[in-house]
Amino acid sequence: MQVIQQQFQVAFSYPVVFTRNVFDPANPVLADLLAAGEPGIRRALVVIDSEVVRLNPGLLAQISLYGEAHRARMVFAAPPFQVRGGEICKHEPSEVAEIHALVERHKICRHSFIIAIGGGAVLDAVGYAAATAHRGVRLVRLPTTVLAQNDAGIGVKNGVNAFGRKNFLGTFAPPFAVINDAVFLGSLPLRDRRAGVAEAIKVALIRDREFFDYLYDERARLASFSPDVMERMIFRCAELHMQHIGGGGDPFESGSSRPLDFGHWVAHKLEELSASELKHGEAVAIGIALDSLYSRRQGLLGEIELRRIMNLLETVGFALNHPALSWLDVEKALSEFREHLGGKLSIPLLAGIGTKVEAHEIDIALMKQCVGALFERASARTDVARASLESGARRVA
Ligand SMILES: NC(=O)c1ccc[n+]([C@@H]2O[C@H](COP(=O)([O-])OP(=O)(O)OC[C@H]3O[C@@H](n4cnc5c(N)ncnc54)[C@H](O)[C@@H]3O)[C@@H](O)[C@H]2O)c1
Ligand SMILES: [Zn+2]
Repeated sequence: MQVIQQQFQVAFSYPVVFTRNVFDPANPVLADLLAAGEPGIRRALVVIDSEVVRLNPGLLAQISLYGEAHRARMVFAAPPFQVRGGEICKHEPSEVAEIHALVERHKICRHSFIIAIGGGAVLDAVGYAAATAHRGVRLVRLPTTVLAQNDAGIGVKNGVNAFGRKNFLGTFAPPFAVINDAVFLGSLPLRDRRAGVAEAIKVALIRDREFFDYLYDERARLASFSPDVMERMIFRCAELHMQHIGGGGDPFESGSSRPLDFGHWVAHKLEELSASELKHGEAVAIGIALDSLYSRRQGLLGEIELRRIMNLLETVGFALNHPALSWLDVEKALSEFREHLGGKLSIPLLAGIGTKVEAHEIDIALMKQCVGALFERASARTDVARASLESGARRVA
């Protein structure tokens, strides 16, 4: 037998820049990033979430003005291409092929750029198209939702759904750069603002007790999406996610564990079971509640800590009792999660707020009890809220 052992390392580096009004012609951030390091005029294809266009009527004109203002350094190869916003673009991803065709037609090469503007779903689908055209066209992401700015848009993954399974097709492909512009969040529906908070609670729970305390203390202002709390929350959440990806030793998830995926084994399943009626962040909130409950019943988490977690989730406004929870097959969901990761089962649990442990076995009967307990608890809260609303209505009458 003869073996030639190949071995090399590739270093990745990309900035996540926080700015405002990225397409204001006076804002040089985007043009500076595209022009950095190489002479000549950079070509870029803009792909944008249709909802962002719909709710920001002047945006397309502004993008075009931006191109005019910076034409000495960059050129938009075509008018912005609109992609259907939300999970549909991952679920029926016809636009991926259309983006490939645009790359070919407009001569977008490996030194050109795709600029993806949108929520996490659009960024995932466009990222997949960018990573597979020419084996990887440079991607600049402009996330426009809370969840995309603090999680989905700043990492190294992309993907679309297939065979009814989330992210079945996808690649690990670090972006060239990410630009987080808080102004985009102005048009975001309240439900989507809330959904993004779940990932911040998640990362605080597994990595940073102080950050959790901050979110807990500010829970009332978080519930009303106070801009300063939201911006601080997004920044710290993004920072923690990036520290983990860069410093966690496994950016491309070759191992069996996915330490950032606290609450996610069930979240992914609930998204599927609800046919995406539940948003990713909403499903993650339920997943956090469930795995916290399980951590408590395993004796890992204190009662007061559990109460603080539930209180924070509920104060922010998450409903923890979606019907999909009652359709959940715990065993099947865990086995599919393991299958997606490959290797052995590894589920992050909490050994206190800010401290995560990996569980390689789950007590199915206990987990089922937790699902039942969560469902009953949340239903009881709904009944109390309904009764108090009705008695309020009677008093008014
Ligand atoms: N790649 C990753 O590492 C990663 C991580 C977490 C989540 N995700 C994926 O991200 C997706 C969820 O992303 P999301 O929470 O951003 O939701 P989303 O992309 O589905 O967006 C939610 C809705 O808001 C609209 N929208 C986007 N920006 C808007 C704006 N500024 N104003 C008004 N409407 C706007 C979208 O069109 C959509 O209808 C899921 O598919 C999830 O799997 C990926
Ligand atoms: Zn997530």
